[in-house]
Amino acid sequence: MRDAPPDGEPRPLSETIELVYRAAVALGGHPQDHGWREFYRLMAFGVEQRSPALLSVLNDAIAARPDSGAAHLVTVLGIAVKSIDQERFKSFTAADQRDRCLRSLEQLLYEQANTIVGLISARQNSFTGTRRFLVPQVLLSTYFLNRPVRFADIGTGLGVLPAQLNSPDLFQRFAPDLVWPGGVPAYRPIRFAARFGIDRDPLPSRSWVQRCYGPSNYYEGLYRELIHSMENPEVKNAAVEYRTIDLLDVAALKAFLRSEEINAVNLSYVLYQLSHDHRRQVVAAINEALATPGAVIVTEPERELSQQGCTVSFLESGRDKPWRLAYVSDGHFKGAVQPLEDFEEFTTIHPIV
Ligand SMILES: C[S@@+](CC[C@H](N)C(=O)[O-])C[C@H]1O[C@@H](n2cnc3c(N)ncnc32)[C@H](O)[C@@H]1O
Repeated sequence: MRDAPPDGEPRPLSETIELVYRAAVALGGHPQDHGWREFYRLMAFGVEQRSPALLSVLNDAIAARPDSGAAHLVTVLGIAVKSIDQERFKSFTAADQRDRCLRSLEQLLYEQANTIVGLISARQNSFTGTRRFLVPQVLLSTYFLNRPVRFADIGTGLGVLPAQLNSPDLFQRFAPDLVWPGGVPAYRPIRFAARFGIDRDPLPSRSWVQRCYGPSNYYEGLYRELIHSMENPEVKNAAVEYRTIDLLDVAALKAFLRSEEINAVNLSYVLYQLSHDHRRQVVAAINEALATPGAVIVTEPERELSQQGCTVSFLESGRDKPWRLAYVSDGHFKGAVQPLEDFEEFTTIHPIV
């Protein structure tokens, strides 16, 4: 079944497959395992073995989504396979039986190639974090103080973050688990004039977001926390409008920002999903169309999801260089906010209470 040439040297990989392979190796080396890691290792093994079924699905997926970052493609392939058959997915992750696992993965890929590539074309990894509003709550309330904020959470996933902002209830519940350099910040409200949640069409549904959670007790607990938080009356009653915009359509993105006079944007775990060129284009478009004075918070996973935690940067209209503010020790926003090189200067200008 495998495609090894007679001299034993494996065929060279195309540049794009090589990128996906490196992403799978990096994701497979993540220090934590909450249900995905063995699958990423199996993918890397499959590419090393030049598995025809895997290479064919990967080539079709890359052709369907040339705009996607490599790590994102690997994660969506995992989500697609898991969403077709969760029990079979679990059987692929026996670390001591790689050959058997690869054969059964190949079988599923042969049977379901069209469905899998269809899901990868139409969908994104829309994992939505319950506690990621904590940092924007603190930064936007200090940066804007009492000025009105017209806010867009771009790449909002299930759309919970814009509704969680200004919920004292949720802030008080989750903030003590995320310690900043000076301790736990006090809750301060943001003076919202408008709030939007933006994502690609179709807007991620609950069932799709649930599929993006890993198959483990750990993620089941996090998903329950997400749903519980959505049922909070402060969240339910928040006035948030949802719109579908594809970020790759930068003209549509700029038109939205201008017509709604958006002066605050949050991009959390979104840019890594795009190719590097598209990341630059999206950030430039937001900068160009943002009302001034305005701000963009960018939270990106550490080393394209292959390490624990994430980095928070703050872009300010009229300032070329982003403020590199903090490293958050866990991407689910528990643990510590550790200051990066610009934290002190930023918080001297915009104090955190
Ligand atoms: C990993 S989720 C993050 C959700 C939420 N921001 C959070 O941090 O919990 C990334 C979201 O970005 C969205 N996204 C990625 N590329 C996009 C695009 N081209 N246009 C619009 N949304 C996009 C995805 O659909 C997905 O819902």
